[in-house]
Amino acid sequence: MSASAKGSVTITLDGSNKSTRLPLLSGTVGPDVFDIRKMYADLGVFTYDPGYGATASCDSSITYIDGDAGILLYRGYPIEQLAEQSRFLEVCYLLLNGDLPTASEYRNFELGVMRHNMLHEQIRTFYNGFRRDAHPMAVMCGVVGALSAFYHDNLDVRDTESRRIAAFRLIAKVPTIAAWAHKYSAGQPFVYPRNDLTYAENFLYMFHAVPTEEYKINPVLSKAMDLILILHADHEQNASTSTVRLAGSTGANPFACIAAGIASLWGPAHGGANEAVLKMLAEIGHTRNIKAFLDDVKDKDNQTKLMGFGHRVYKNYDPRAKIIQKACHDVLAELGIKDDPLLDLAMELEKIALSDPYFVDRKLYPNVDFYSGIILKAMGFPTSMFTALFAVARTVGWVSQWTEMMEDPQQRIGRPRQLYTGAPRRDYVPVSQRG
Ligand code: CMC
Repeated sequence: MSASAKGSVTITLDGSNKSTRLPLLSGTVGPDVFDIRKMYADLGVFTYDPGYGATASCDSSITYIDGDAGILLYRGYPIEQLAEQSRFLEVCYLLLNGDLPTASEYRNFELGVMRHNMLHEQIRTFYNGFRRDAHPMAVMCGVVGALSAFYHDNLDVRDTESRRIAAFRLIAKVPTIAAWAHKYSAGQPFVYPRNDLTYAENFLYMFHAVPTEEYKINPVLSKAMDLILILHADHEQNASTSTVRLAGSTGANPFACIAAGIASLWGPAHGGANEAVLKMLAEIGHTRNIKAFLDDVKDKDNQTKLMGFGHRVYKNYDPRAKIIQKACHDVLAELGIKDDPLLDLAMELEKIALSDPYFVDRKLYPNVDFYSGIILKAMGFPTSMFTALFAVARTVGWVSQWTEMMEDPQQRIGRPRQLYTGAPRRDYVPVSQRG
C-alpha cells in the first residue's frame, strides 16, 4: 500500500512573494505528512528538525506505532497477538515478506534460515583478536562487520536473490556470533549451532551448553527467549534502523550496514538501556533509596536519567513493557524464584515514578528496557550481554527495513542538510601575521 495525496498545504514566506503548495500525504493509519521535497526549489529554504522529532524519513509498510495510544503493529498485527500466538521465525517471515506464512512456506523459511547459522571457520580466528573482557557489543560490531569480507564479491545489492540470501545469513548468523562473544569472554569452547532445535532453543543451547554435560532445554526459558525476540524484532525508524537505512542508501554491503546498526543500538539512550537499567537498580539498591534517586533524576543540574523510562514516540505505556512485566512474573515463578528483590524494586520504582508530577507531566512511562533486564538476568544472561540479545532480535527488523528501502524505486542516497552556524567565508592568514 502506498501513500495517497489528501490535499495540500500552502506556505508563503513572510516578507517575500514566494509561496509553494506542498502535497499532504496520508498513510493507512497515523498522522498525515506534508511532502517538503520541492520546498527548497520553490522557496529557497530548508526545514530544521534536529533529532528528527517531526520528520518522516521514508514511507514504510512494516511497523506502525501509535505512541499516544501505546499501540505497536507488525505488518498490521498487534504485538500482543504475536507475542501470545506466534513464534519468532514466523514473525521474521512476516516482517520480511509482509504476510503470515502458510504451513509449508513456514517450513521452507525455517529450513532456509537455519541452514545458514554456521559461521565460516575463518571467523573463529577473529575472536582471538579481542581482549577477553571486551564488551560483547564491541565484538558484535567487529565480527558482524567482518562478515562483509566473506560475502562481498558475489553480492549484488540490486539483485533480489542476493538480498534474500544476505537477509537469511544475517538472521541465522548473528545469534551464533552473539553466543560466541559470550563463550569467548567466559573462556569456554564455542558451541556449534543445531538445526534440530528452534531458533530460540538453539540460541540458548549455543549460549549455555558446555561439552562436559548434556544441556537440557527448559521449555519455559525457550518460550521466554522467543517472546523477547518477538518483542524486539522491529520498531520502525528508530536510531539503529535509520542508521542501517542511511548506510544502506549508499549501496554499501548489507553486513557492514548491520554492523553500523549494532553500533547505533549500543548507546544507553537506545538498546544499551536494558544494561543501564540493571546497573541503575543495583545502584539504588533498596526501595528506601528510591526517593533520593528520583530527586537526582528531577534535578536539572544532574545528568541522571530514570533508565527504561521515556520514549521519543510513546507518550503512554510501551505495550512491550506490559508484556515483559507479565513474562517476568511467569519466568520467575517457573524458576522457583519467589521473591526477586530486583523485580520488587523495579515495580516500586515504577509505581512511585508514575505518580510523580515530573514523569506524569512529561508523559514518561516504562519502555521495553525497564523490565527486560530482569527477565534476562533470571534466565542466566550476564548484564553485559543484554544489548547483544537486543541486536540478535533486531537483526530481522534491520534487514527487513534495508530490503524495503532497496526495493523502493524512489530510493536515493540519504543526505540530510544543515543550518550552518560557523564562520562565513574568510581568508587564510599566514601564522607569522596572526596576532
Ligand atoms: N528520566 C528523566 N527525565 C527524562 C527521561 C528519563 N528517562 N526521559 C526524558 N526525560 C525528560 C527530559 O529531560 C525532558 O525534560 P524537559 O522537558 O524538562 O527538558 C523531557 O522528559 C522530554 O524528553 P526528551 O529528552 O525530549 O525525549 P527524547 O524523545 O529526546 O528522548 C529517550 C527519548 C528514550 C532517549 C529518553 O526518554 C531517555 O533517555 N530515556 C532513558 C533511556 C531509555 O530508557 N532508552 C530506551 C528507549 S526504548 C528502547 C530503544 O529505543 O532501544
